[in-house]
Amino acid sequence: MAIQQTLSIIKPDAVAKNVIGDIIRRFEENGLSVVAARMMHLSAEQAGGFYAVHKERPFYKDLCAFMSSGPVLVMALEGKNAVALNRQLMGATNPKEAEEGTIRADHADSIDANAVHGSDSEENAAIEIAYFFNSLDVNSRS
Ligand code: CMP
Repeated sequence: MAIQQTLSIIKPDAVAKNVIGDIIRRFEENGLSVVAARMMHLSAEQAGGFYAVHKERPFYKDLCAFMSSGPVLVMALEGKNAVALNRQLMGATNPKEAEEGTIRADHADSIDANAVHGSDSEENAAIEIAYFFNSLDVNSRS
């Protein structure tokens, strides 16, 4: 399986619950390594730029408001099959549908406050990583 990089965001709800360490532990114990990290308090405009693909969706405004409501931890993760593995560890977008033992089942409260974001494809991962990091910020372990 190929080594990939993917973007992870620990969202304001999970940062406020002080579960950053628990979430990173799950990544590391499952073979993912943090290769870039940045704590930020996004503006609504910065959140909107990141989620531009959802601009026409009815939840876009609430999503931008939520993502700018407090600090987030933005990370690039690296490992074998990192995109799919991260999504498996996160669980379904709606925590009510998330499998037991996943990050969202354990830490998310709603589809908006759903603890984490993860890229949905390798192509989008490259775009999302470049939104937050320049190449010198990303320290590959492979
Ligand atoms: P995330 O993986 O960060 O990608 C877009 C976010 O929009 C998603 O997680 C949810 O937090 C949020 N969202 C709110 N409503 C919906 C919805 N109906 N479908 C998908 N995402 C939604």
